[in-house]
Amino acid sequence: MRILFIGDLVGRPGRSIVKDLLPQIRKDEDVDLVIASADNLAGGRGATRGTINETRDAGVDFFTGGDHIFHHREFEQDIEDLPIVRPANYPGDAPGVGYAVIDLGSKGSVLLINLMGRTAFGGPQAYLEDPFTRAAEILEEFSSEEDLIRLVDFHAEATSEKKALGFYLDGRVDGVFGTHTHVPTCDARILPLGTAYVTDVGMSGNIESVLGVKKDIIIELFLTARLQKFEWENTGTKAFRSVLLNTDSNHIKRLDFEK
Ligand SMILES: [Fe+2]
Ligand SMILES: [Fe+2]
Repeated sequence: MRILFIGDLVGRPGRSIVKDLLPQIRKDEDVDLVIASADNLAGGRGATRGTINETRDAGVDFFTGGDHIFHHREFEQDIEDLPIVRPANYPGDAPGVGYAVIDLGSKGSVLLINLMGRTAFGGPQAYLEDPFTRAAEILEEFSSEEDLIRLVDFHAEATSEKKALGFYLDGRVDGVFGTHTHVPTCDARILPLGTAYVTDVGMSGNIESVLGVKKDIIIELFLTARLQKFEWENTGTKAFRSVLLNTDSNHIKRLDFEK
């Protein structure tokens, strides 16, 4: 199976470059399944039913979330019937599901797990459950299903936590893809026991910005040490950042475009 994983898809520029490029990439690379992080899909924070559906029309089949996924309050209801997983290590009964099996008929089935890191995040991430233990628990549930392709989106800030989870799950899942930092890393590779891994897929969105936000606002923040109101950059060069995993040949490669 050929699976394309797109990193944090940020706001209007992210949706626009995906609409522009994804239909051709799907054809050229003979992609069976496209997954994207919807954590910044709507207005730079969170997702909405409308932006999810708009992105599905462009060719994304399934979505993942992260620290912003419940930014738009109505999404706590909307998440229930949309093709999306949110971090599985939220404590208690968070809306939505943390993992899902995507059935692709004769091509096979994919278990998609979303987890969030706890290291170097400044907010409520401190109250999340341990993502390592949560991953092991979920994999245990599916231990008898040998043919299942197993993928993890690890939405985390610290590269150390991401690398550690990659090695922890090496040989137990087909892919561990990092998201959240918005900056792509050039370390896509197969780990020693066979798991495809990348520390961060990177953001699809405007790259003449600081992680999607107008650069002058963030420079001002660092100069004054005072919180500024964020505005998202909508003009300038856009990037499309993704990785393509071929589970038959066990090969991962980066697919990056700028426009
Ligand atoms: Fe993000
Ligand atoms: Fe995030």
